[in-house]
Amino acid sequence: MPDPSVPPAPSAFPGGPGLFRLDPGVAHLNHGSYGAVPLPVQEAQEVLRAEAHADPDAFFNAVPERVAAARARIAARLGADPDGLAFIANATEGANLALDAAGLAPGDEILVTDHGYGTVVAAAARRAPVTTVALDPQLPDEHAVRERVLAALTPRTKVAVLDHVSSPTARLIAGPGLLAELSARGITTVVDGAHTPGMLAEPIAAGADFWFGNLHKWGYAPSGTALLAVAPGHRSRVRSLSPSWQDEEGFPRSVEYRATADYTGWLAAPEGLDLIERLGAADVRAHNAALAAYGAALLARIPGITPLPYTPGVAMRSLLLPPGTAETQDEARALREGLAAKTRIRVLIWPRPGGGGIRVCGQLYNRAEEYERLAEVLPGFLRDA
Ligand SMILES: Cc1ncc(COP(=O)(O)O)c(C=O)c1O
Repeated sequence: MPDPSVPPAPSAFPGGPGLFRLDPGVAHLNHGSYGAVPLPVQEAQEVLRAEAHADPDAFFNAVPERVAAARARIAARLGADPDGLAFIANATEGANLALDAAGLAPGDEILVTDHGYGTVVAAAARRAPVTTVALDPQLPDEHAVRERVLAALTPRTKVAVLDHVSSPTARLIAGPGLLAELSARGITTVVDGAHTPGMLAEPIAAGADFWFGNLHKWGYAPSGTALLAVAPGHRSRVRSLSPSWQDEEGFPRSVEYRATADYTGWLAAPEGLDLIERLGAADVRAHNAALAAYGAALLARIPGITPLPYTPGVAMRSLLLPPGTAETQDEARALREGLAAKTRIRVLIWPRPGGGGIRVCGQLYNRAEEYERLAEVLPGFLRDA
């Protein structure tokens, strides 16, 4: 008898798995952490590298214009203003650039949440005192999240740093309603969209003052490929963390140009979004979300595991582990590494006092059996944890 709590196992996405060359002996259920680069994008980057090695002068002389052209292609795919978008190396750089340009003055505070990513929260804490909103992972919906955030504002809150989709709990936080409420209160919003390009139909948070996101996770781009989008009124304050030639050009070129860096990832990045489009972006999104939902439904049947509220369409799902499991960073790491070492299954285990969480992701290369195997072996690890 099929279990009605478990949706049917999604079948393989036509032409999907063959696009990747991941180790077939490993169940990669953690796409959200590092992404994976499909072969056509790897090949595009190889061609660019060969070009750079064949005639470095010609390659580097053309970099500013080629980067601008790649940026315009990406902007068109994401529905963004190309003048308000810059290539950057990663989400962490985006947080630092945005917070430097957010107009903080002595006495100002920054609001963050306890679902925020470590390096992003640290970027905030380096610049001003932070108020951390505790978002119970079991808050039922976006409205409850919004109320929790708004209730934590103080008269000194100048900037709010919010996840677009959170890493541990895989849910939408910076929805348009919350961003509008914060703007109406004069608060500058900085949105961490590390997971949204390639995963959400509208990856750039509408109404954010600053948004940054990785192309190297769900956008199929090579590592070191990310974006910073800045609303018009803030652009003139954005300064490179490491100014180089082109600094006088202003945003976005002043932020993008880094002399003799490796630009091949950025130049190959449009191939990742083009590939998603060719495969059928809506189909890819639906397939990946269905895989994550399948995995979550299997894990939810394990005694002691609690499913969490989720945002439909997100290709990652989190569940709470039993009390006493992964309560600290060290315990979470030990469980994650033990699972990987003994079973070759990779998932994110995140720490939390009272019981940490497990996150599974869905991507074109995943197979239903990988989630089934995880659900089979996890109870043994929880007994030993
Ligand atoms: C929500 C979130 N923000 C920021 C980051 C940091 O990304 P990067 O390592 O590209 O700076 C991550 C990485 O997993 C993330 O999940």
